Amino acid sequence: MTAQLIDGNALSRQLRADVTARVTALKARGITPGLAVILVGENAASQVYVRNKVKACEDTGMHSVLERWPATMTEAALLARVDALNADPTIHGILVQLPLPAHIEAQKVIEAISPAKDVDGFHIASAGALMTGMPGFWPCTPYGCMKMLESIGYELKGKHAVVIGRSNIVGKPMALMLLQQNATVTICHSGTPDLKAMTLQADVIVAAVGKRNVLTADMVRPGAVVIDVGMNRNDEGKLCGDVDFEGVRQVAGWITPVPGGVGPMTITMLMVNTLESAERLVA
Ligand code: GUN
Repeated sequence: MTAQLIDGNALSRQLRADVTARVTALKARGITPGLAVILVGENAASQVYVRNKVKACEDTGMHSVLERWPATMTEAALLARVDALNADPTIHGILVQLPLPAHIEAQKVIEAISPAKDVDGFHIASAGALMTGMPGFWPCTPYGCMKMLESIGYELKGKHAVVIGRSNIVGKPMALMLLQQNATVTICHSGTPDLKAMTLQADVIVAAVGKRNVLTADMVRPGAVVIDVGMNRNDEGKLCGDVDFEGVRQVAGWITPVPGGVGPMTITMLMVNTLESAERLVA
């Protein structure tokens, strides 16, 4: 069996076309959705990510502001910028790119963002809303994974989903979203003694560890859906995920590639969250 691909680029194009149409409609009512992105320091990967986020805003007709600050910026100065953006009526989403320099407490900065503008979904209020099933912003990466499952018409009710990784940004919110759709959810992590025993029971596997070859063909039940959140480099410097793609695709029913899978979906869901933040003003 060779798995069918879930194409994150194609799905992103579809979803972004819908976002663009809704941005146009909102503009006709006098509101241009606006995203502010704050980058502190010179992290090379972060520079690429923020460029892509700003470009996605341009492509969908949204307003965007990119603030670049030196790594020496103080925590107090950053908190003051967040406050100013909280009060700025042209800004509907605020994103502080992580990681931040070590002298700045990231969670403190995240908590300073107004929950109404927390389009990353990292604020404790957003996390609490997800946990309790209340309205709020969902973190973009697991939200994008849910959209990928939806795009193949996958019914999660009654299925066993295994999430590998327990980060606040992906693993934990992913598990809650799957649970909300009535999957039976197992979260595995570095302290799980027999990962393979768990993944072999899974109908859906989400790998979100940040390490190559965490999931290999012998760990996957035939026909399972495999979502690869990883973004790593192999020995030749090529982008690869957490999943041994060539091996696992021989066993799985569906699989997301890296690149061209979850990656583009993350930015797409950021556009969706920013748009919906602005749409709430006229709802
Ligand atoms: N760094 C890596 N991914 C992300 C993300 O989704 N949001 C923010 N703010 N920083 C990140």
